[in-house]
Amino acid sequence: MDKFAGSIAIVTGGSAGIGKALIKRLLEKSSNLTVIGIARRPIDDFSSFPNFRSIQCDVSKADQIQSMISTVQSEFSGKSVQILVNNAGHGKPLPLIDHSSLNDPATIQVENLEDVSKVYASQLNTNVLGLSLMTRAVSKLMDHQKCGNIVNINSMSGQRVVPTPNSHMYSATKFAVTALTEGTRQELRVINSSIRANQISPGYVDTDFFQAFSMEQGYQEKMKEVVKTAITSEDIVDSIMLCIEAQPGCQIGDIQIRPTVQKL
Ligand SMILES: NC(=O)c1ccc[n+]([C@@H]2O[C@H](COP(=O)([O-])OP(=O)(O)OC[C@H]3O[C@@H](n4cnc5c(N)ncnc54)[C@H](OP(=O)(O)O)[C@@H]3O)[C@@H](O)[C@H]2O)c1
Repeated sequence: MDKFAGSIAIVTGGSAGIGKALIKRLLEKSSNLTVIGIARRPIDDFSSFPNFRSIQCDVSKADQIQSMISTVQSEFSGKSVQILVNNAGHGKPLPLIDHSSLNDPATIQVENLEDVSKVYASQLNTNVLGLSLMTRAVSKLMDHQKCGNIVNINSMSGQRVVPTPNSHMYSATKFAVTALTEGTRQELRVINSSIRANQISPGYVDTDFFQAFSMEQGYQEKMKEVVKTAITSEDIVDSIMLCIEAQPGCQIGDIQIRPTVQKL
């Protein structure tokens, strides 16, 4: 981690799950790295670390990202951001086809197309637009002569389409992340940047993700069973650290990581 001393790491979705575990690991690994955690909720857990700063920001809102960038520039002038982990994301259950046989009890009840638009937009705006706005805004604060990483937290749902209609829009947002990671890599090559583009594609991870997806009782009971064999946030953090700690000439493209027992 010595190569990042004196610089900044920004982690989105730092108030829970994978993002929170990553912030903890980064802070434990290096006291010379400033770690900024971003989420809509404040992140209170790391107040004992002087090199941690929580900034409340909804990554789906351009004005909030702009104001977060201004805060970083004024509070940490002279420091560059060498690590960006685009981790904030969520899913919502609603099929693409409007047919009762595709719905299950977890499916969101919608009255009209306006409701449908809100459900789809909340996922697209965080998982795709938010990740892209963060990449564009933060890349301006990076020193492209120095080693660094833009790590996108994708999903196995960004690699193959599973036959669960409720999650097809979520899957589409994650397929977009696959294109965005490779697009980012290609653009970094054009400008001869030393920043690397990486993505992690997890299967089931035991986090609050499934509460954010649906609180419907049947779904929650099913997921309680699934998470018994799920991998942990720490497993995902191990993969993120592999990308970050790789020697500067080595860029890890995509890490697919599932529970051993996961079938699809
Ligand atoms: N858990 C899994 O099985 C799994 C599998 C594959 C991929 N993933 C991906 O892993 C990433 C992290 O998810 P997780 O499992 O750690 O879920 P989680 O525990 O629900 O955490 C999600 C984080 O994202 C933040 N967030 C959501 N929308 C946001 C927004 N608009 N602006 C800023 N922050 C936002 C949440 O904070 P606030 O609510 O405070 O904003 C929270 O900190 C996601 O991209 C998810 O798609 C998860």
